[in-house]
Amino acid sequence: MTELGAHRHKSRQATAPVCEAPLAEIFVNTKVSIVIPTYKEVENIPRILSKIDDLRTKSDLDCEVLFMDDDSRDGSVEAVRQSGFEWAQIVVRTKNPGLSAAVLDGFELAQNPVLVCMDCDLSHPVEKIPALILALSSGQEMVIGSRYVAGGSTDDDWGLFRWLNSRIATFLSRPLTSVRDPMSGFFALRKQDFKKAEDLNPIGYKIALELIVKCSFQNIGEVPIEFLDRVAGESKLTISQQLKFIKHLRRLYIHKFAESMYLIQFLVVGASGLLVNLATLTLFQVLGAKAVVSIAAGISVSMCSNFLLNRRFSFSYARDSNILRQFLSFILASMIGAAVNYAVALYLQSSVFLSDSSYSLQVSAIFGVAAGTGFNFIANRFFVFRKRFIRVPK
Ligand code: GDD
Ligand code: MN
Repeated sequence: MTELGAHRHKSRQATAPVCEAPLAEIFVNTKVSIVIPTYKEVENIPRILSKIDDLRTKSDLDCEVLFMDDDSRDGSVEAVRQSGFEWAQIVVRTKNPGLSAAVLDGFELAQNPVLVCMDCDLSHPVEKIPALILALSSGQEMVIGSRYVAGGSTDDDWGLFRWLNSRIATFLSRPLTSVRDPMSGFFALRKQDFKKAEDLNPIGYKIALELIVKCSFQNIGEVPIEFLDRVAGESKLTISQQLKFIKHLRRLYIHKFAESMYLIQFLVVGASGLLVNLATLTLFQVLGAKAVVSIAAGISVSMCSNFLLNRRFSFSYARDSNILRQFLSFILASMIGAAVNYAVALYLQSSVFLSDSSYSLQVSAIFGVAAGTGFNFIANRFFVFRKRFIRVPK
């Protein structure tokens, strides 16, 4: 908002909530940058520009449009130039391709205090931009054009696969945000809030989800939209994008639930170790090995698989450290962990639980395993796979 705008905004708030101010009055004061990521959207560029032009006239909306194009070479650059709109420009990107990266670059370049992100293929209704900005000016930190709130919808042409896909993705992101449609690529936020984002590192398509988590937004509004299927051009949502989404989710979970994510992954790896142990043991048994050999093989192979999986997933930040040192300290930690397990179980069995009560041995053993696992986790997290800090010379 301009200086004047901010002032008028305040005095108006004293008498009536901002939402009730006439649309035109809000737009006199609000300058918007609309960022549109594009890849081979030459057919859609003139269409979306003409819709935005209509909106500028009808609602007095002062906006610039930034097409962030990943070097499509399909005439997109010419299409923007030929439109003759001085408020529209196209930026051709040649490095770090990708929808999310393009949007972030666009937000950096944007000149105005309010940022809007939307697709080029007219899936997102241009007419809803005022509603997004209105909700933003009434105090929300971010406003999303949502398919999944009352009044919102997806195109009837959406196949079952795409619908299911979108629903599953939304479900998986539930622990990160209670927003109904965090997968939407249509949203508005303030430039000043965007600047507060911490270590943005999106992969794939879900830029709104990345911003929700990394900006720690609490007040997020959702405005219902009717999501339409693209008419021209092709969707770029591929299987590889889906896999990227899983990777992206894992990163966001780690960001949000840092310490408990290490533990959860460590426990999952531990459970997988049990399966590996049993499978190896059975294999050796079938091959005719003696019990002592089979048991030892089960333990050795599962220790190796646990080590590799923990290094690759649970404590992936330590993947660049010396693997031999890590492996030896992992074995050492496991041995101490086993001793802790043994000592705790024995102590409970002999002095806390009555040794002759039913299942006392099993209960003691369970506590032993829990203590040993706890020890192993701490030893792995802070010793075997410790973070290496780079000392900055003074
Ligand atoms: N710069 C750039 N680079 N733009 C891209 C890229 C890329 O690699 N891939 C896609 N885009 C642009 C497209 O040109 C389009 O304007 C927009 O990003 C969305 O791409 P689509 O291919 O139309 O995606 P979609 O329809 O499958 O996905 C939409 O729905 C999802 C939710 O279901 C988008 O709105 C997503 O943002 C949204 O998450
Ligand atoms: Mn689309």
